[in-house]
Amino acid sequence: MKKITLNVNGRRRTANVEDNEILLDVLRDTLGVKSVKAACWRGECGLCSVLMYGKAVKSCLILAVEADGAKITTVEGLSRGESLSPLQKSFVEHGAMQCGFCTPAFVLTAHSLLTTNPTATDSEIKEYMSGLICRCGTYNQMLPAIKEAAKHYRKHASDDL
Ligand code: FES
Ligand code: FES
Repeated sequence: MKKITLNVNGRRRTANVEDNEILLDVLRDTLGVKSVKAACWRGECGLCSVLMYGKAVKSCLILAVEADGAKITTVEGLSRGESLSPLQKSFVEHGAMQCGFCTPAFVLTAHSLLTTNPTATDSEIKEYMSGLICRCGTYNQMLPAIKEAAKHYRKHASDDL
C-alpha cells in the first residue's frame, strides 16, 4: 500500500492505494466521488473521464500512484456552489441529456476542449468528443450545447467558468 494525496475540486484528499489500483476506483470507492462513472474499465467508453491538471483523461487508464499529487476536477468542481457553470447550464437548456449517466464525462471533456480551443469547429468538437459514448444518443443536442457555451469561453478565462 502507498499513501497518495490528490487535490480533488480544490480539496486535499488522501488515500492508501495498492500499486495496481486505478484512479477511477479510488475516486469512486475510496473517496466517494460517484459522479465519475464506471462502465467498461478499459478505456473504451470515456465515461470515467475527469480533468487532471485541466485536461480530460480516462481515469480507468491511470494508476492511482501515477496521479499522486495531481489536481483532479470532477463535474462538481465546475459549478460554484449551487450555480452551474455556463457549460452545465447549456447542457440543461439544450436538453443534452436523458438518463444523465454520461453527462459528467461529456461536460468535463467539452470543458477541456473549450479551455484550449474556444473557437472549435463542429468537426473539431466531434473529433474531440469521439472517445465518449452516450447510450441514450443525445449527441445532436450536445453539439449546440457545446457551441453555445463556447461563447463564454471566448469571453472569459477558463478559471472564471
Ligand atoms: S470506464 Fe474508463 S473508459 Fe470506460
Ligand atoms: S444521457 Fe444517458 S448515457 Fe448519455
